[in-house]
Amino acid sequence: MTVTKIVDDNIPSKLDLVPGFITAVLEKLQVLHLDEDEVFALKLCLYEALVNAIKHGNKEKSDQAVHVIVKTNKKKIILEVTDQGHGFDFTRIPNPTTEENIGKFHGRGVYLIQNSMDSVKFLNGGRTIQMVKVIK
Ligand SMILES: Nc1ncnc2c1ncn2[C@@H]1O[C@H](COP(=O)(O)OP(=O)(O)OP(=O)(O)O)[C@@H](O)[C@H]1O
Ligand SMILES: [Mg+2]
Repeated sequence: MTVTKIVDDNIPSKLDLVPGFITAVLEKLQVLHLDEDEVFALKLCLYEALVNAIKHGNKEKSDQAVHVIVKTNKKKIILEVTDQGHGFDFTRIPNPTTEENIGKFHGRGVYLIQNSMDSVKFLNGGRTIQMVKVIK
């Protein structure tokens, strides 16, 4: 089945550019006629992945960008967000629902992504998060 690339873009590592960037990506996805829940999940996951890439990956360095690819084969949407950082040990992300972590204000981004997408993979030593949403 043919895969079409809908988005192939770089965003500079500035957190205040994230909302506008997400709006532009979602506009490009309108051709897919997604329902409200799908749009919400994609916005949420793109937001969490971009903030992680900018903050934890690129450390908000002005000379580094985040690369975003969105592909579809009409049955699913594949989002790939890649930073220029050092990667990280994605096998050791703390579980935010345990007793010791439940009161913390951070550490929920990846958990939210994993619970909103049909598949989530870290590639490239953790520099790329690949998120797949099956279209209803
Ligand atoms: N792109 C990345 N590069 C380096 N480390 C990352 C990256 N994405 C996630 N991490 C690491 O994984 C941890 C968990 O990420 P997660 O988004 O769940 O929580 P958080 O960013 O700390 O807090 P929150 O997203 O709830 O504000 C981060 O604290 C960070 O150590
Ligand atoms: Mg986060």
